[in-house]
Formats: sequence, structure tokens, C-alpha cells
Amino acid sequence: MRALLLGGAGFIGLHLARRLVADGYEITVVDDFSRGREDADLNELRAHPSVRVLSADLTDAATYARLPHGWDQIYLLAAVVGVRNVEQDPARVVRVNTLVAMHLLDWVAPGERVFFASTSEVYAGGVDAGVVAVPTAEDVPAMVSDVTAPRFAYAVSKLLGEAAFLHTARARGFDAVVGRFHNVYGPRMGADHVIPEMALRAVSGEDPFRVPGADQFRAFCHVGDAVEAMVRLMAAPGAAGQIVHIGNDREETNIGDLAKLVLRVAEAGPAIEPSPAPPGSVHRRCPDLSRLRGLTGYEPAVTLEEGVRSTFAWYREHGRPS
Ligand SMILES: NC(=O)c1ccc[n+]([C@@H]2O[C@H](COP(=O)([O-])OP(=O)(O)OC[C@H]3O[C@@H](n4cnc5c(N)ncnc54)[C@H](O)[C@@H]3O)[C@@H](O)[C@H]2O)c1
Repeated sequence: MRALLLGGAGFIGLHLARRLVADGYEITVVDDFSRGREDADLNELRAHPSVRVLSADLTDAATYARLPHGWDQIYLLAAVVGVRNVEQDPARVVRVNTLVAMHLLDWVAPGERVFFASTSEVYAGGVDAGVVAVPTAEDVPAMVSDVTAPRFAYAVSKLLGEAAFLHTARARGFDAVVGRFHNVYGPRMGADHVIPEMALRAVSGEDPFRVPGADQFRAFCHVGDAVEAMVRLMAAPGAAGQIVHIGNDREETNIGDLAKLVLRVAEAGPAIEPSPAPPGSVHRRCPDLSRLRGLTGYEPAVTLEEGVRSTFAWYREHGRPS
């Protein structure tokens, strides 16, 4: 099996790459290293004889033109992600996330199967408006509460990608699977997301320990489980043409309790200082995984405590990624 991982040097991409190599795939990773890292983990992967790593910008159609065809699987993970990026430069988020998708669509060949990485953010507006139930299934209305708010630039770019992949695949004779990730976390995911960010503050001994959005609810999914779901979906004939939620619905937690778990793992006992959630952040998020289970038999396997422990250990050893 041959797989092409676009944006494969990033967080989910590197964990997926390791898994595919362990399963005997030949893989090619393409990344511009705008967020992906040339670190020891990537170098270890690169040293494997069945791995090729190319540094190239996927917003440039010429990058695709230089790639061979004949892939069994193509994963589009490349995107500008993260609340900080979206707040600082929403125009870049729209431009990059749209162009990488459009150029891939112009290039992909009949018979190839594409995974498009989307997000729970596409329906988050509906949760806060009270029109979308939680746990949330795929068929709820996608909703953007305020198109002028920078944070929705990301959701809009992913929603456009979902529609583009599903319609174009049907018209052009290739398979597309849209996976909407829900709060995936784990080692090597940068420092912007809540679990690594808390882990790093716990390591630094912050006291009092700030907990923004302590009363918000999330269902965190360890990256090992997310990768398992992706691999199963790409092998499931019935997943073609579908939007599928990916996450862990077993251990929804509020952020205050998550902070207590991180501090227990860190063996730290600071005073806890709750503060308001960042503006526009959805109050509750948890996927309904019925479709994923029905298509693949997937069950989340990593408990929140196990996942937080391994993630904390990684951040204590490596510190804040540069
Ligand atoms: N991590 C999550 O919980 C989560 C949640 C929802 C959706 N997603 C989606 O999953 C995908 C992977 O997310 P991640 O957390 O691994 O993010 P990430 O930022 O770690 O990975 C994205 C990769 O894309 C690369 N990239 C960006 N622009 C590029 C360009 N123009 N050309 C080539 N490479 C480029 C980056 O360098 C990075 O390595 C993204 O599409 C993201 O929107 C992730």
C-alpha cells in the first residue's frame, strides 16, 4: 500500500505516518514546515527505508504537478490551525486551507481515495445557538454564528472543503472520506491546545493555576485513537462519500476537572484560579460516534487518564516546542 500524507509532519500527520509505516505502507510526507517540525521524531521516521519526506508548499499547484500518482490513500491534513493563528490572521487561514484543498481536487486521479481532515467547528455555532444537540451527529446543520468573527474563518474554510470533496469525488470518480476531528490531543501537538498548555504550566510550577473556561465541557480523543479511526475509515468501502465524526465519547469532562487531572499527574498542588472562557469558544462539545462505529467497529481505547499521563510525560521531557 502507498499513502501520501499532505501536512504529514504536523501533529496528527506524524502519528499517522508512524502507524502506516508499522503496518507496512510506503509513505510520502509533504509539508512546508510552517507548523510541522524537523525534529528528532521526524528524523527517526525519515530514516525508515519506506518513507520519503518532501518540503513543499501545497498552496502552489506546481507542488502537486511534481508528485507521482498511483496512491492507494491520500490524507489531506495540511491546514493553518489553532485559535491563535485564526485570531491573528484569518485571511491566511481561509487562503491556505482553501488552496491546499482546491489544488488537491484538481490533481487527484480516479481510483485514488482521499481523507479530508475537517473539524467539529463547522457546527459549533449551532451548539451555542441551542439548535444542535450534544452529543452531536453528522447530519446536524452546519452553522457559523458570525461570519465576520475571525475564529469562524477556520470553520468556513473546512466547510467549503467538505462540500468540495464530496461533490467533486462523485463527479470525478474518486473516493472521498470527510473526517471531523473532535479535540484530538497527544504528544508533539504544539503548545496552543488545552492539554499541552496546561501540562507546560504545571511543569513550570504556576501558582495560582489559571483555568480559563473551567465550566466548559469537552470529550478529548487521544491521537492513537484518532489514527485508528482514520485507518479503519480508509479501509471501509462504505465510508466513501460520507462525513464521519472522529473522537472519544466515553469520558466527557469539564475543563476544571481536566485541570485537576493534569495537576494530579504532575504531582502539583497549586491554588486553582478559574477565569472566563476565550470569546466564541463553544460551551460543550462531544461527538455522536454511531456512524463511525457502524462503518468500522471503532471503539476508543485510550482513557483520559492514560492519555494525559503520556502527554504530560512527553511535555515534561521535551518542554515547549519551538
Ligand atoms: N488536532 C485536532 O484536534 C484537530 C481538530 C479538528 C481538525 N483538525 C484538522 O486535522 C488536520 C491536522 O491537524 P493537526 O492538529 O495535525 O495540525 P498541525 O498544524 O500539527 O498539522 C498541519 C500541518 O500542515 C502543514 N502545512 C500548513 N500549511 C501548509 C502548506 N501550505 N503546504 C504544506 N504543508 C502545510 C503544517 O506545517 C503542519 O505540519 C488539520 O487539517 C486540522 O484542521 C485537527
